[in-house]
Amino acid sequence: MTTINKDYLKLQGSYLFSTIARKVREYKADNPQAEVISLGIGDVTQPLAPAIIDALHKAVDEMGHAETFRGYAPDLGYAFLRETIVKNDYEARGCRITPDEIFVSDGAKSDSGNIQEIFGKENVIAVCDPVYPVYVDTNVMAGRTGAYSPEKECYDNVVYMPCLAENGFLPQLPEKTPDLIYLCFPNNPTGSAIQKDELQKWVDYANEKNAVIIYDAAYEAYITEAGVPHSIYECDGARTCAIELRSFSKNAGFTGLRLGFTVVPKDLVREGTVLRDLWARRHGTKFNGAPYIVQRAGEAVYSPEGKEQLKEQVGYYMRNAEMIRTELASAGFEVSGGVNAPYIWMKTPEGMSSWDFFDRLLAGANVVGTPGCGFGAAGEGFFRLTAFGSYENTCEAIRRIKSL
Ligand code: MLT
Repeated sequence: MTTINKDYLKLQGSYLFSTIARKVREYKADNPQAEVISLGIGDVTQPLAPAIIDALHKAVDEMGHAETFRGYAPDLGYAFLRETIVKNDYEARGCRITPDEIFVSDGAKSDSGNIQEIFGKENVIAVCDPVYPVYVDTNVMAGRTGAYSPEKECYDNVVYMPCLAENGFLPQLPEKTPDLIYLCFPNNPTGSAIQKDELQKWVDYANEKNAVIIYDAAYEAYITEAGVPHSIYECDGARTCAIELRSFSKNAGFTGLRLGFTVVPKDLVREGTVLRDLWARRHGTKFNGAPYIVQRAGEAVYSPEGKEQLKEQVGYYMRNAEMIRTELASAGFEVSGGVNAPYIWMKTPEGMSSWDFFDRLLAGANVVGTPGCGFGAAGEGFFRLTAFGSYENTCEAIRRIKSL
């Protein structure tokens, strides 16, 4: 008889953003006239920048001629893209990363879900609470949970690090020593950012404990303040303890195109094995490369025109962030984030639960956000709004929230 992977049965019914999408579909079916504005999932709304469109057109034409046609991409991604990434994202920031440590992929969500495959099942993982649900769910699917403890209502091998308002929504070093530490900065969902000296403490801790940090830097383009690192490799010693995940979704609007990359330094060695080689083995076996035309589009992100156009695009979303933050604060809401990240984290009013507030906003203002508790227990009583809407829709949504 066929058996199933029973670890899947430990998961909640559906993925957070699928649950929200279903609720909104049901609401719209019952209220067909409602003009619903979504500030829920962090999906971009602005069209691709002209430099990217030009690169796509050119690459599509190349695919139509025998001399320039490309088939399977190289395992790690095209050298033109990996070299451009190294030059712009790492050398320009004084970080020592080489092109053969870059693995081009179809996005940071896949990478953040897949990276756990190269680690043993017995590893203890530490995650922030609240947290991007993919980190936890993929470890649960892989059976990396340990036993369930009914008193604590959690699994023994999953350590939650509460990110509370009194600590600026930053995690504290955990009591139980983890083997894998997931960090995401600027943070999704709280929008908080970490200073370089604070991140250095995590790097030193990971090196001391022989742990590995999986550092999700998908939102680095939104950093506006000095002293906030764009990459974990800006910290001393990160090459021996950190893997970095990067995305083209939020900085360049590739949520529909799909492109990202993972950095695994060759100095990262555990149990005598170079992790970069394990990831190369996994990547080569299970992935046939991001499409050529998309990798050319990724290269255009770093062209002088691309950089200029994307700076403007990021600025557009950050104008939304600032507006949401200041308008809600002036209306008396407790808000944070939105300074180095496109997410605003607000306390629900009058002690409402996150889902009650979600329902209230949807029914009363036709505005969709993301309930904080969907990101973890410490997110209960909070609500996330994204700055990725159009300016007009964002203004209208905030007007409706305030009048409600
Ligand atoms: C989010 O809303 O948290 C993100 O858009 C989800 C993602 O990037 O997969």
